[in-house]
Amino acid sequence: SREQMETRIAEIKQQLGEKLFIPGHHYQKDEVIQFADTSGDSLQLAQICAANEKAEHIVFCGVHFMAETADILTTDSQKVYLPDMRAGCSMADMANIFQTDRAWDTLTETFGDTVVPLTYVNSTAAIKAFVGKNGGATVTSSNAHQMVKWAFTQKERILFLPDQHLGRNTAYDIGIPLEQMAIWDPINDKLVFEGAIEDVKVILWKGHCSVHEKFTVQNINHVRETYPDMRIIVHPECSREVVSLSNDSGSTKYIIDTMEKAAPGSQWAIGTEMNLVNRLIQQHPDKQIISLNPSMCPCLTMNRIDLPHLLWSLESIVNKEEVNVIKVDELTAKDAITALERMLERA
Ligand code: 13P
Ligand code: SF4
Repeated sequence: SREQMETRIAEIKQQLGEKLFIPGHHYQKDEVIQFADTSGDSLQLAQICAANEKAEHIVFCGVHFMAETADILTTDSQKVYLPDMRAGCSMADMANIFQTDRAWDTLTETFGDTVVPLTYVNSTAAIKAFVGKNGGATVTSSNAHQMVKWAFTQKERILFLPDQHLGRNTAYDIGIPLEQMAIWDPINDKLVFEGAIEDVKVILWKGHCSVHEKFTVQNINHVRETYPDMRIIVHPECSREVVSLSNDSGSTKYIIDTMEKAAPGSQWAIGTEMNLVNRLIQQHPDKQIISLNPSMCPCLTMNRIDLPHLLWSLESIVNKEEVNVIKVDELTAKDAITALERMLERA
């Protein structure tokens, strides 16, 4: 039963003490988050794992790329586990290293040595390694502005992987006009741009988050008609149109902080993942909070980590079976860490 599972998880946590560390992303289910030693957005979790030297076993409650990042940033003796190997990220899967190498060949032919790659942490370790090798850095949604500005101190142009929306919204915010943004289509190996090619400043990889793309202009219009006093806040993985029609946008942490500071009685429609929106609704009974999309928008892969998988993973550690260990090979990790460190030094 649920209670038995909860009791056993608590027992194992007690038994392993500081040898065990459970980080949980804000989009995880409540049943999992209740056992997290720390919860955070992708940047906070990367920083916290990098700083943890005590834990021998890190059971990462989040998605695959986050567990890879935790492995890269921890020592060889620390093991990182993902309670369900199917907890991937559809956005990270939209850029593979072969497509990226082909894109880079074309971009180098077209623009010479004027492009620096940036990748959202929502990407495979191989893509992070590619970026590290080519002078670039990782970014998260909470430091994207800072990192895009930094990238322009390195080269004239940026290739932004794999989320076109975070790339477009961030570049637009720092003053790059939409007319100077091209799209790289990885399915057809094609650069799509309307104007003169020398005007391109940002090349956006054609990827997206299947959760945040579900917040639409229709959802915004509906909220505006139904609740005229409601403010709309969305994650920058939403489309440019949705972000521009909202009152505010920002990373997962920014949305949480904004709700903390919001006045009692204020009304909010939030455009981000369902588990987090539901938690914010519970934590702020003095405010009226709804999901921008009434069908809520869960991240199905995040939700694959549940109580039974968490318990299974913990039992495997107790039994020294060590299943679902996430291990990035040394060569990849060496270059990926360069990309991550360029971000962590500045973030
Ligand atoms: P952040 O935690 O950086 O806001 O990212 C959101 C997300 O989609 C994680 O997968
Ligand atoms: Fe990936 Fe989007 Fe889910 Fe985050 S919310 S893990 S970006 S699919």
